[in-house]
Amino acid sequence: MRRKLAAGNWKMNGLDAALSELEGLPAAENCDILLCPPATLLAPMVTKSVALGGAIKVGGQDCHANATGAHTGDIAAEMLADAGAGYVILGHSERRADHGETDADVAAKSLAARRAGLIAVVCIGETEVQYKAGETLDVIRTQMHGSLPPGSSLANTVIAYEPVWAIGTGLVPTTEEIAQVHGFIRDELATQFGQGMANGTRILYGGSVKPGNAAEIFATADVDGALVGGASLKAADFGAIITAL
Ligand code: G3P
Repeated sequence: MRRKLAAGNWKMNGLDAALSELEGLPAAENCDILLCPPATLLAPMVTKSVALGGAIKVGGQDCHANATGAHTGDIAAEMLADAGAGYVILGHSERRADHGETDADVAAKSLAARRAGLIAVVCIGETEVQYKAGETLDVIRTQMHGSLPPGSSLANTVIAYEPVWAIGTGLVPTTEEIAQVHGFIRDELATQFGQGMANGTRILYGGSVKPGNAAEIFATADVDGALVGGASLKAADFGAIITAL
């Protein structure tokens, strides 16, 4: 059985006071909870989580492929792990767009995450133009082959399907569309890495997940949780999403 995962991506939001939101999150018995704050809040969030019982896992939002070196402004996977993180989001479409990250970059970062003992949450998803052109599955296949390095396994990898056009827009694919893409991702995992990985890997949906649509999305075939942006910033919203899992 795949254990469900409710993951929050705080993006470039949150000062120290935002950590109090963790106090309002429900205890989750049926799923894992992960929050990925900006790097400045990583260590304090780990401390806060431990104080609250340790149920909330903490992750980074990116890492460099190298472990050390002259890379001003970057952060190594080993540093995330040292701060207490257990996960790292990689290849988010905002990094692909803002920083020109390629599939090859994401694969290199996935290896770095593995080297540091982190679970990589690898993001894939088509743009609006690609969606309208009917290219979604081709894009997904290409991104998976390019972004998931050899040796990827259900123990070191989570996939997040995030249609770029659904991020922060209030637009969400139909549940039929989500089921089709998630089923396709699982089939591609079987082709690339074998049936064991396909059966066991958690595939999250991300893009305008809110308390009002979470239950319907979570009831969709092959959806093992969500990667939530805006609605993960407030305990009331993220708590409702966790409860819907
Ligand atoms: O990584 C999560 C994300 O990109 C979705 O953002 O605000 O649409 O939930 P949002």
